[in-house]
Amino acid sequence: MLQIQENVSLKTFNTFGIDVKAAFFAEIFDEEDLRTLFKNELSKANKLLIIGGGSNVLFTQDYDGLVIKISIVGITSKVDGDDIKVTAGAGVVWNDFVNYCVSHNFAGVENLTLIPGTVGASPIQNIGAYGVELKDVFESCTAFEINTGEIKTFSYADCHFGYRESIFKGELKGQFIITSVTFALKTEARLNTSYGAIEAELQKRGIESPGIADVSAAVAHIRVSKLPDPTTIGNAGSFFKNPVIEKFEFADVVAKHPDVVHYPTADGKIKLAAGWLIEQCGWKGKIQGNTGTWKNQALVLVNHGDASGKEVFDFSAQIIDSVKSTFGVTLEREVNIM
Ligand code: FAD
Ligand code: EPU
Repeated sequence: MLQIQENVSLKTFNTFGIDVKAAFFAEIFDEEDLRTLFKNELSKANKLLIIGGGSNVLFTQDYDGLVIKISIVGITSKVDGDDIKVTAGAGVVWNDFVNYCVSHNFAGVENLTLIPGTVGASPIQNIGAYGVELKDVFESCTAFEINTGEIKTFSYADCHFGYRESIFKGELKGQFIITSVTFALKTEARLNTSYGAIEAELQKRGIESPGIADVSAAVAHIRVSKLPDPTTIGNAGSFFKNPVIEKFEFADVVAKHPDVVHYPTADGKIKLAAGWLIEQCGWKGKIQGNTGTWKNQALVLVNHGDASGKEVFDFSAQIIDSVKSTFGVTLEREVNIM
């Protein structure tokens, strides 16, 4: 039975642990709940915010509207030769979905082990890690259209995926609530171990011919060593995107900073490591009031205690200014600022 609560603390609903309140709050367990909710006047009279795990949001003030938490669960799979289609409810915890695939020996998402949040949010910014992005395994998703109450299906082509981008963050922002995602996975593993420290970690473990579970465990190990655990120290992962710049702009940067960490992109541009830029400006591990950057990863901003969202936001603005004046590069926030 759908319940709409009033004046609800969001502290446990965002991994930054920011203590703000939502004027109204509803948790959705199935599509029927969505239909019921959108018949209610409250959903028409208020601005709306959809959340899953709250692991990519920074609340800078109380939310003066209706927060809708998506908790639609359930995973089903269909094997057809080497191809597997797995469909998961939008509220399934992303890492539970990864563990389900790893334990069934379904290959494709093992490099995305331990990313916080839900399945339903995974297409929003096309989550990625260790050389794999959601788009590489995405088949389709279903979504509730807020204006019409209809459920629509989005194909890969419909979603316009890019680096930490999709149509749901752009053109269709705020118009659809993702209810399920279908993934195209394989029974035959085509492992991707070339990124970062995966190979070194497998070697350290004495694993010569790794399987899906080995890669998943190696990725988990590397992530835990670099990233703060939101259950003990509030954060939302990378606070900024890695900036992607044109080759001519890169020529200027590299002339002045020959050791700048960078990667070519498939479309002929250059991606810079934002963590490196921020560290070079002296911010790594810095603590300012209740906020700061993580000691092992300067790209991650943290809540050292009772930080307010505004404090974290203002700190992030100082970092943007500093990187701009040192490198001439503008950092863009990855985290959704509310
Ligand atoms: P939320 O934070 O709740 O929401 C994020 C955005 O999606 C919001 O705009 C929200 O309105 C929208 N949204 C959420 N659910 C739905 C839905 N069902 N329908 C429509 N809109 C919706 N991200 C990466 O890409 N790679 C990483 O390696 C990575 N590592 C991280 C490590 C840590 C420690 C943390 C805390 C975060 C990390 N992130 C990473 C960011 C985060 O995990 C992802 O962005 C994740 O997909 C967010 O899921 P969520 O359910 O918490 O979304
Ligand atoms: N680096 C530094 N100093 C730092 C941090 C990083 O010099 O403080 C250098 C590293 O040495 C390395 C390079 O920057 O040479 C890249 O660092 P890392 O491998 O840690 O990855 P990242 O680019 O900082 C990105 C994603 C992460 C994802 C990892 C692994 C973005 C914005 N971030 O981080 O995603 O987990 O790669 O694939 O693309 C997230 O989006 O929230 C997130 C955590």
